[in-house]
Amino acid sequence: MKDKVLKIWPEINWIKDEGLKEKVLNCWIYAIENSVLSIEDLNIIPFSLLIKDCKISFMNHKRTCVQLSVEMTKIMQKNFGDEIKINMDILIAGAILIDVGKLLEYEMKDGKLSTSHTGKLVRHPFSGLAIADRFGIPAEVQHIIATHSKEGDLGHRTVESIIVHHADFVSFDPFKA
Ligand SMILES: [Fe+2]
Repeated sequence: MKDKVLKIWPEINWIKDEGLKEKVLNCWIYAIENSVLSIEDLNIIPFSLLIKDCKISFMNHKRTCVQLSVEMTKIMQKNFGDEIKINMDILIAGAILIDVGKLLEYEMKDGKLSTSHTGKLVRHPFSGLAIADRFGIPAEVQHIIATHSKEGDLGHRTVESIIVHHADFVSFDPFKA
């Protein structure tokens, strides 16, 4: 399963800290093993069930978010220098994990994918956090998962979370009706 996850998520190898990389991998393996979706489905299903005729896959959307986060960070580091401190490993791990909980949000009824009752009550920032905690993901990364969505709008976001939040929404909002 580990190799299969690395195949759909090559960006996991961008994490330099081996311990953190292993934890991120374990979160994804756990989520896939406990989901109604198979690992292959992730490259097929639309990234949002709320967008009509969405042709962008879940993995395309998620990988775009990670890649955007890293590119934004590089430009900010180049232009702002010592005025800003961004931890690249924390940022990448967070961007890779923000939607891991989504795998537990879905249910399959008569071959049709939808959001389950539990998924509506416990949205993926929360279920993702539970997965992350189970595998010892550090607080700085848990914070990104917890605050990446609208649930994080009322509180404080770290710089890594601000970047990931915006990268997520620029690859989502243009597709909204
Ligand atoms: Fe999300």
